[in-house]
Amino acid sequence: MSSGNKLHNVVFVLGPPGSGKGTQCSRIQANLGFTHLSAGDLLRAERQRHGSEFGELIESHIRGGTIVPVEITCKLLENAMLASGDSAKGFLIDGFPRNQDNLDGWKRQMSDKVNVHFVLYLSAPIEVCVQRCLNRGQGRTDDNEESIQKRIVTYNEQTYPIIKHYEKQNMVREINGEKSADEVYAEVERIFQNAGFRHQA
Ligand code: C5P
Ligand code: MG
Repeated sequence: MSSGNKLHNVVFVLGPPGSGKGTQCSRIQANLGFTHLSAGDLLRAERQRHGSEFGELIESHIRGGTIVPVEITCKLLENAMLASGDSAKGFLIDGFPRNQDNLDGWKRQMSDKVNVHFVLYLSAPIEVCVQRCLNRGQGRTDDNEESIQKRIVTYNEQTYPIIKHYEKQNMVREINGEKSADEVYAEVERIFQNAGFRHQA
């Protein structure tokens, strides 16, 4: 990230657990030149980092499906943006902002550094999401029934209102995430094209 005044392009990616955020973000990164930053992945990496003072706190939030205080998550996101240098066309911030605390902290810390273009919202029925999480076999400590149920409660009570907040500002681009990854991605590309971001050769 430059030290100059150029604002960094940001697209937030939200949707229930298992809605396909990570899958779509990998494709957007490969084809459209955005850098994918997953808040959950950054928190998992910080949890594993030797000497982290936040490891236990993060793990208890992850297992309980609750949201880590924004000071931790926003700092990880900002550090990752700084580390990725100037080459990124923009940043896809996946799984953030997850609640009002995330949104408030982001605005405090980042609003003068970024241009948030839109929120990509992958919607899918909860039953489909639960099955996907149970079947994905990534070895996550929160892909068990008990944690998944808690994550869904958090999603409904805390994250969905954030999507509604952005809807009021006409910033939400919703895609039915129940379709195949290819079908979803075709719609994703159209949305990015409409926002002026082109497929890279
Ligand atoms: O997005 P993902 O499903 O990987 O997130 C896993 C967990 O990481 C969440 O359930 C939550 O406990 C934590 N998280 C968070 N704040 C975020 C994103 C993820 O606390 N903005
Ligand atoms: Mg993810």
